Amino acid sequence: MSDLKDLDSFQKLEALQQPTWPDQDHLERVKQTLSAMPPLVFAGEVDYFKSKIAEAAAGRAFLLQGGDCAETFVDATADRIRNRVKTVLQMAVVLMYGSSLPVIKMGRMAGQFAKPRSNDTETREGITLPAYRGDAVNGFDFNEESRVPNPDRLLKAYNTSASTLNLIRAFNSGGFADLRAVHEWNKGFMDNPANAAYENIAADIDRAMKFMEACGVDSAELRTTDFFVGHEGLLFDYERPLTRTDSRTGKSYVTSGHFIWIGERTRQLDGAHVEFLSKVENPIGVKLGPTATKEDVFQLIEKLDPNREPGKLTFISRMGAAKIRDELPRLMEATNEAEALPLWVSDPMHGNGITTANGYKSRRFDDVMEEVKGFFEVCRALGVHPGGLHVELTGDDVTECLGGSDDIDEADLEQRYETVVDPRLNHKQSLEMAFLVAEELVNFRR
Ligand code: PEP
Ligand code: CO
Repeated sequence: MSDLKDLDSFQKLEALQQPTWPDQDHLERVKQTLSAMPPLVFAGEVDYFKSKIAEAAAGRAFLLQGGDCAETFVDATADRIRNRVKTVLQMAVVLMYGSSLPVIKMGRMAGQFAKPRSNDTETREGITLPAYRGDAVNGFDFNEESRVPNPDRLLKAYNTSASTLNLIRAFNSGGFADLRAVHEWNKGFMDNPANAAYENIAADIDRAMKFMEACGVDSAELRTTDFFVGHEGLLFDYERPLTRTDSRTGKSYVTSGHFIWIGERTRQLDGAHVEFLSKVENPIGVKLGPTATKEDVFQLIEKLDPNREPGKLTFISRMGAAKIRDELPRLMEATNEAEALPLWVSDPMHGNGITTANGYKSRRFDDVMEEVKGFFEVCRALGVHPGGLHVELTGDDVTECLGGSDDIDEADLEQRYETVVDPRLNHKQSLEMAFLVAEELVNFRR
C-alpha cells in the first residue's frame, strides 16, 4: 500500500477550462452515480498498453492515434464508429507494411467528449451564451437550453463511451480486425488512387497470409488486434469519479480510457491537471506547442515520470509546419539531457489551423504533411525515434481539410463540413497521409 496517493490534491490548485455548472447538488448526484459505475478499462489492460508504449519509446514500435476532434453523441452510431475504426486499421496496415514496425492502434475515441475553448462565451447576433465545451458538458445548438452546462451529460458521455468501446472490442475480437480481412476494410469507400494503392498492399498481405497458412501458421496475433482508446483528460467531474484505486496494489488508474493526455492549454506545472494525472498509473501524454520551454519539459518529466518508468510519458508535439524545425529541437534536447525516454509523437493538426475566406476553420493537407516532415527531420537530427502520429480524422467523406489528391478547395468546404470543433481529415486524406508517413518511416530507418 506504499503507493497510496492523495487523489484529491489537485483541488487546491487552479483548474482551467472547467464548466460552470448551474446546479451544484445536481452535479454532486451525478458524480456519486459515476463513481459507482463499472470501470470502462481495466488496470491490467492499462499496464499492458504501457508496455506497448515502452516498446515504441525504445524505437521498436509506432503509435497511431486517430479520431474526432470532438466525439458527439449523435455520431456514436455503428456505421460511423466502424468507419473510423476501419480507417485507423487501414492506416496501420499501410504504416506497418511500409516500415516493418509493429503499429499500436488507438482511437481518439470512447471518451473524447470535452473540449477546451479560447473563450468562455460565444456571441451571435447580439446574443451571448456559454461556449460549446463538448457533448459531455453542453449542446452545440446555439440556444440557452442547449448551451447551459448539464451534468446529466457526464452520464451520457460515460454511457456513449461504454457502447463505443463495446463495439470496438467486438470488432477487434470478433473477426473484423482479422488480417485476412484487409480487403474488407477498403469496401464501402469511394474508389480513388489511395484506395487502389491500398489494394496492392492488401493483395501482398493476402499472399503472405496464404503462404503462412500453407506452412501451418495460425497465430492469434493475425486474427485479432489490440485497439486502445484515449482522450484528453480535461473534466475533473468526469475523470475523478472514474478513477479507482486497486485494493490489492494500492495503485490508482483513470478507468475512462487507456491513455489520457493533457492539452496545450492545461499543462501548467502548478495547475490541477498535471497534479491530478501525476497520481495515476496510466500512460500520460502532454501536448507541447511552440511556447513550451526546456524548463517546462524538465519539470513535466520530474512531475509525471519521476522514476523514468518505461511507457509512462508521451510528448505530443503540435508546433505548426512553419515552427516545428525551430521550436522542437530544444524540447527533444531537454528529454535527452534529462535521460528520460518519453515517446515522441507528432500531432500535425493543431498548429496548422486557418480560417478560410468563406469563414471555415480548416487545415491544409500540405501544411499537415510539412509538419510531419519537419518532425522526422528534427527526430533524425536529435537521434530520437519518431514514435507516433496523432491525427484528427473521420472515416466519412467529409470536406473539412483543404487539399489532398481530391484537391478540396474553399468552396468544397460548404458541401460536407460536419465537425463541431476542429476540421478532420476524411477517409481518403487519412489513407494518403498513411502512405506519406510510411515513406518517411522507411527513409528514417534506412
Ligand atoms: C485537441 O487535441 O483537440 C486539442 C485541443 O489540442 P491541443 O491541446 O494540442 O490544442
Ligand atoms: Co482538435
